[in-house]
Amino acid sequence: MKAEFMVNDVKYVVEVEPNERLSDVLRRKLGFVSVKEGCGVGDCGLCIVLLDGKPVNSCLMLAYQASGHRITTVEGMGDGTRLHPLQQAFIDVGAVQCGFCIPAALLVLKHLHDTKPDADREEVRHALRSVLCRCGSYIRFEEAFKQVSRR
Ligand code: FES
Ligand code: FES
Repeated sequence: MKAEFMVNDVKYVVEVEPNERLSDVLRRKLGFVSVKEGCGVGDCGLCIVLLDGKPVNSCLMLAYQASGHRITTVEGMGDGTRLHPLQQAFIDVGAVQCGFCIPAALLVLKHLHDTKPDADREEVRHALRSVLCRCGSYIRFEEAFKQVSRR
């Protein structure tokens, strides 16, 4: 069967199996390797992408279900020449350790920033609960969000 969706503003028409997960299609067929697989069962959030602007666990979604929708991965956060302000803030505050969770953390914070740029610490923490960072960089993620909110 065919799935047709936009990824980072580019249209893709891709042949998928009925039971093929969105995370696998994004990573293996389309090359968006920022989409990580941790648990594969919806617990770690490392496979998060934005679907029509909202975070979803792409390991829990079948690829055909994304048909007709708009997907954003971390590759699409900047404008092609400049990083998104949150990406720059992650660099500025030294938020990146091993880096494995960073695409998902950036995407949940992008959603929060798009919907509530003045979110307080509790709201930032709540958003970050959906992403498992084994390096424990949460305080720096909060600091990066705060930096961007202040601008
Ligand atoms: S890999 Fe999808 S939630 Fe863990
Ligand atoms: S920076 Fe290593 S898992 Fe988050």
